[in-house]
Amino acid sequence: MSASCVFRDEGKLSPEYLPQRTPHRDGERRELFEIYRPMLKDEGLAPIAFLVGPVGSGKTMMVRMLGKEMEEKGVLHGCTIKPVSVNCRTDRTPTAVMNRVVEALGARFPKRGLEAQETLRFVLDMLARTRGRLLLILDEADSLVSAGDRSLLYSLARLREIHGSSRVALLMLSKSTRFLLALDASTRSSLQKTTLALSGYTVDQLVDIIASRAEESMQPGAMGVDVARFIANLSQGGDARYCVELLLRSGSASERRGACSVAVSDVLEARNSLPPGVDLQELQYLTEHERLVLTAAANLLRGSRAFISTGELEAEYRGLCATSSVKHCGHTTFWMTLQKLKAKDFLGMERSGRGRRGRTTLIMLRIRAADAMRGLDKTAWSRA
Ligand SMILES: Nc1ncnc2c1ncn2[C@@H]1O[C@H](COP(=O)(O)OP(=O)(O)OP(=O)(O)O)[C@@H](O)[C@H]1O
Ligand SMILES: [Mg+2]
Repeated sequence: MSASCVFRDEGKLSPEYLPQRTPHRDGERRELFEIYRPMLKDEGLAPIAFLVGPVGSGKTMMVRMLGKEMEEKGVLHGCTIKPVSVNCRTDRTPTAVMNRVVEALGARFPKRGLEAQETLRFVLDMLARTRGRLLLILDEADSLVSAGDRSLLYSLARLREIHGSSRVALLMLSKSTRFLLALDASTRSSLQKTTLALSGYTVDQLVDIIASRAEESMQPGAMGVDVARFIANLSQGGDARYCVELLLRSGSASERRGACSVAVSDVLEARNSLPPGVDLQELQYLTEHERLVLTAAANLLRGSRAFISTGELEAEYRGLCATSSVKHCGHTTFWMTLQKLKAKDFLGMERSGRGRRGRTTLIMLRIRAADAMRGLDKTAWSRA
């Protein structure tokens, strides 16, 4: 294998890899661990909790780490704790979930034809016999409810009442707890007693995450802080997954170029290889001035630049207005138009960093310049 001058270990950017450091989630990871810590001491305690947070906020990562930690600490405390994670988007029915649990526990079990409740009984008996404890993680738990059959959640919420068992601790993950409204009030309250809510990462937090993931996976100096900021700004809703994916693809792009560090042009190439995070159909609903401002941004950003200043953009916009005989709007309205395009996720805005004289707002495109041009062309803003 030839040594790469960009990557030290590309595999450390794969979705399965658990990073060594988790900036901005250490506090939440500790909180989560504290919720389940009682399992290590008292057999009679089986916590139930919820972890909610938007796309790419680190839920699955945190929970996989928790599972590992509980299993390892269990060994030290002389108890067997088996973490089993089921993705309910894949296994959407109670039967599918329980079959997955049996499989993960390595039990021999005649799967076919058995109801989820019978399988649950089988699992509880097995845990009682082996004095084991199960930490059942239901990832994307909302899919279980939207699939229609709520019986498993009812049973899991009342394990002690119905089955006299406290060998199953439950951790549910989803983007919000809204789906619980489909359950009856008492099940809802027992499931929702402990909720840990994560916010989407801020741009600054994403920069730290990108730097940390780059440090683990790339050669020293391969990822500069400006490029990391650019990547962070391209993510929507504080999604770390998108950043890690861009990091990997940008690194590969710079490697293909034969370079040893990632440039903005590599990130643009990487971004262009991913589907747009915004619905391009929305372009047709923009007002005339929004279209003109976006066209101006696309004109300036179709090369390999990451950001432009608001001053440059306003000048380009005014130029476009002049060539298409449209009266340009004043500075305040221009500014409000930028805010609207930002709210629609077509543009990103970033305060310029230290080191520059004064601070100005920098503008970036969140969609490909070519897509913006094509979409706007179709809607013909000059139709007047
Ligand atoms: N604080 C962090 N430090 C390092 N990497 C992180 C951090 N947070 C998230 N990641 C990485 O970002 C990616 C997405 O995280 P994860 O899969 O946990 O998101 P999620 O909240 O489960 O999203 P979804 O709701 O879409 O399933 C993973 O590769 C994860 O390792
Ligand atoms: Mg997830």
